[in-house]
Amino acid sequence: MPRKILVTYALPYANGSLHLGHLVGFIQADIWVRFQKMQGQDCVFISGCDAHGTPIMIQAEKLGIMPEELVEQCRVEHARDIASFFVHLDNYYTTHSEENKVLICDAFKKHQDKGNIVTRRIKQAFDPEKHMFLPDRYIKGDCPRCDAKDQYGDNCESCGATYAPTDLKNPRSTLSGATPIEKESEHYFFQLEQYNDFLHQWTRDGHLQEQVTHKLDEWFKVGLQPWDISRDTPYFGFSIPGADNKYFYCWLDAPMGYVASFKNFCANQTDYSVEAYFKSDSDCELYHFIGKDIIYFHALFWPAVLEGADYRTPTAIFCHGFLTINGQKMSKSRGTFIHAKTYLDHLPPEYFRYYLATKLSDRIEDLDINFDDFIQRINSDLIGKFVNIASRSASFIAKYFDNTLSAQLSEPALFKLFVKEGDAIAEHYEKREYSLATKRIMALADRANQYVDEKKPWSMIKDPDQKNATHDVCSMSINLFRLLALYLKPILPNITEKTEAFLNVSPLVWADKNHVLLSTTIQPFQPLAERLDKTHVAALQDATK
Ligand code: MSP
Ligand code: ZN
Repeated sequence: MPRKILVTYALPYANGSLHLGHLVGFIQADIWVRFQKMQGQDCVFISGCDAHGTPIMIQAEKLGIMPEELVEQCRVEHARDIASFFVHLDNYYTTHSEENKVLICDAFKKHQDKGNIVTRRIKQAFDPEKHMFLPDRYIKGDCPRCDAKDQYGDNCESCGATYAPTDLKNPRSTLSGATPIEKESEHYFFQLEQYNDFLHQWTRDGHLQEQVTHKLDEWFKVGLQPWDISRDTPYFGFSIPGADNKYFYCWLDAPMGYVASFKNFCANQTDYSVEAYFKSDSDCELYHFIGKDIIYFHALFWPAVLEGADYRTPTAIFCHGFLTINGQKMSKSRGTFIHAKTYLDHLPPEYFRYYLATKLSDRIEDLDINFDDFIQRINSDLIGKFVNIASRSASFIAKYFDNTLSAQLSEPALFKLFVKEGDAIAEHYEKREYSLATKRIMALADRANQYVDEKKPWSMIKDPDQKNATHDVCSMSINLFRLLALYLKPILPNITEKTEAFLNVSPLVWADKNHVLLSTTIQPFQPLAERLDKTHVAALQDATK
């Protein structure tokens, strides 16, 4: 029986375009999903956009459109960009959906019934001109320590001091310029501390990377605090049933958006149901891929929300680090803020997938894209090692052997070694150790090239007595190439599709590694990938500035 697996990737906010950083996790998850499918598992991959919150409301206002319209524009654009990187999602939905509203209201009701929700009056910064409460990021002022102007509500970029927004000197609202006042209102709190024991255990039960468990320790030491899950009007979100002018905080309904997106997907399916995947004793597997900045929401709040609403909790949460460009945080002023679309205008998506794969592991350290290294890595690995094996042998098969492979393998032992390595590579994929997988695959590619170098088919073919032997050598190397393509397939879905057409084979699955291609006809070789030139990358960098 195949494993029944549901994979999600964090839902990007619907207030702008995706950048390369967003793609890191989508690609990490996609490689894993593709690998699972090649293993014959039943794996569904869903995501969507996160529609709610103040920034989306403000952005829509700026554009003079309704937030619903902004969300739909972003949803369509995100889905297109994600697909362009060959990330295959079964659904890219939105948290602002009827499904999600019903799901979150039901879950909220369950928590209310269990006494997990309390109300309390609290004081917060309020913009008297815009008539709205101000999240910290909308308050600027002078640093209380060094007097630097124009600092954000929680820390000073100039001297590094951290403080509360109420400590700022000359505070003002970035929305209206008005001086914020303090205003009281009633808020709903989720009593997270009631889940302390459950969460303490859950975060140690193998659902998290060790590094993540350590990070969470700080929270348990300080003690879990009640979590404010409501926002006052104006806000773009779902209204809280039974409350006047109050909305659920976007981070309450955002993870439920995973369930809603899946529910929407299930509507047109017979083999999948929310019930089967989310009931408390489900035997399906559930994995959330996320970036390191949203660990707390996924590893503390979300399991508690699920547990209290009588749903299953995630099988695991897989967390990745942040993308940096040439060693630094992406920044608009440094010209290193690369939108997904800008990248796609200049470079092939699979080069980014491959480069990322050489850096990705089970750890949560940041990943750097250095463009000189990028060019070097693509040209040396993909072009010089991988594609090269096919191109150097295919021309002989075409020219002298009528595009047909020989009837036997010239070196069965070498082929066997390649097949056996497939198990170790599979293990690396399963554990999300893609950098180890690519290292192993490239070591095999080196071995294949070495084989061709030793045999020298280009000189063998000059000797008529060696014609059959030459045929065997070239067919052998095509078979080695086929295995390399199979092993790279989760990372390079499009190049492998072209390879499958070239080899005249049906879509490769992992079990195919044990087969040999003998006496079959292949197609004339077409270039599978092109060398990267400095000018391509320079054009991308120019377009980014
Ligand atoms: N809307 C929330 C997620 C809700 S999930 C129920 C959110 N959105 S986001 O747009 O800010 O981020 C979406 C994903 O992109 C997150 O996993 C985040 O960690 C990731 N990344 C954002 N910038 C990134 C990099 N520079 N590098 C790698 N991942 C990055 O958080
Ligand atoms: Zn300062």
